[in-house]
Amino acid sequence: MTRAISLHSVSKVYGRATRAVDRFSLDIDPGEFVVLLGPSGCGKSTVLRMIAGLEDITEGELLLDGERSNHMPPRERGMAMVFQNFALYPSMTNRDNIGFPLRLENPRQDSSERVEATARMLGIENVLDRYPSQLSGGERQRVAMGRAISRRPSAFLMDEPLSNLDAKLRNHLRAEIAQLTADLGVTTVYVTHDQAEAMSLGDRVAVMRGGVLQQVSSPREVYALPRNVFVAAFIGTPRINLLQAVVYAPLQGRMSIDLGRQRLPLPEPLSPDHQLLRIQQGRQIIVGLRSEAARIAPASQARPGEVALSGIVEHMEYQGHEALVHLNTGSRPAVVPDLESPRPRTAPRRRRGGPGVLERLRERAAAHVPGHVSGPVVVLDEPEADASATYTPDRPAITASDLVVRTGPDMRLRTGAQVPLLVDLAHLYVFDHYGRRICPAPMDMPGLDM
Ligand SMILES: Nc1ncnc2c1ncn2[C@@H]1O[C@H](COP(=O)(O)OP(=O)(O)O)[C@@H](O)[C@H]1O
Ligand SMILES: [Mg+2]
Repeated sequence: MTRAISLHSVSKVYGRATRAVDRFSLDIDPGEFVVLLGPSGCGKSTVLRMIAGLEDITEGELLLDGERSNHMPPRERGMAMVFQNFALYPSMTNRDNIGFPLRLENPRQDSSERVEATARMLGIENVLDRYPSQLSGGERQRVAMGRAISRRPSAFLMDEPLSNLDAKLRNHLRAEIAQLTADLGVTTVYVTHDQAEAMSLGDRVAVMRGGVLQQVSSPREVYALPRNVFVAAFIGTPRINLLQAVVYAPLQGRMSIDLGRQRLPLPEPLSPDHQLLRIQQGRQIIVGLRSEAARIAPASQARPGEVALSGIVEHMEYQGHEALVHLNTGSRPAVVPDLESPRPRTAPRRRRGGPGVLERLRERAAAHVPGHVSGPVVVLDEPEADASATYTPDRPAITASDLVVRTGPDMRLRTGAQVPLLVDLAHLYVFDHYGRRICPAPMDMPGLDM
């Protein structure tokens, strides 16, 4: 039996003030694999624990197979949990560890066959008679998994089960988990803060921020059609380039997007999505460009839909199969609060005196989300005088790159060199000043056929 799990406007308030989860709604089909993704502290574990029955639901409804189950005891839910800090009984063999839930359920039944079958499924048949301390981290996690599945649960709830393992093992076990849950056909809710893990595992990915569900879609769609700046920035590496900009829409003449020192002319005739930008005339917007949306090439090589820009090389980051070029195009990056780690600075900066623009923006950004409310997903600000300060030996200008572009690994570029760029406007995202995506236009926008 595999479960359908529905949460209807579920909230969790700890104590009086901490709203860890805020009106969270999600319908999970039987057999579906859903990943809860978001930065640390955004409420993922709390949602999972409410599904498991380990945490009271403050408001809202939990339905299991269509029945209201807010108060169903955890045991009766028949779900299995796997945690990051899996605890095996050190004094029991792995065989006994895996069989433990079965013996608990039915002490008189012989569980050895089920244990063997489970172990075979996980490729740990040959370590059954050892103790947990005699296993590697990966094997231990497999035993923990075995203990969770031996009872054939109605759903798996996994809370960062791979976080303690090294990268190689993590990738390996990730593939195994996908295979295993697909084979068993059991509904799975998997919590992670690792977007790559979420993308590779989930039938759907539910992105959370500050206790609030931002978007739930297929991995493809959260990447290609992020609903807001937060989702756009949280998903994909390198992080999407987000630039503060203004739409320039003269009554006559060509519409363009003003990036500060440069402009992106919109190709004519305007696409329906670009038409819609006209109403943003004069307003602050955010332009999003993934690193694959721009390439280093002269204007003479422009393909249809590509427009020219230029940038100054800040530095290059070699990745083996490709290189990332960090460029300064003279625009201001938008700051997205609440992401786990801000994009690392590219230029080492020494400074006397007070904090710089970015620090202040970050502080303000952090101050924007007091106690997990659904605040704005982006922080825009006016340029500060020192953002364009001139270079002097003891006070370097703030030269953080604002655009990261992929190139082949053989490209050699000198720091400080000016390079031509071609931006593919088919891959342009525009977000309004609240951070909501407006281009490509959201599907659910009514009455906008033009
Ligand atoms: N038992 C608790 N009491 C009070 N606050 C809690 C408790 N558990 C979690 N929180 C708070 O709720 C928020 C969400 O926590 P959690 O669900 O663990 O986040 P995540 O799993 O996404 O890292 C955090 O701010 C956390 O500090
Ligand atoms: Mg957690």
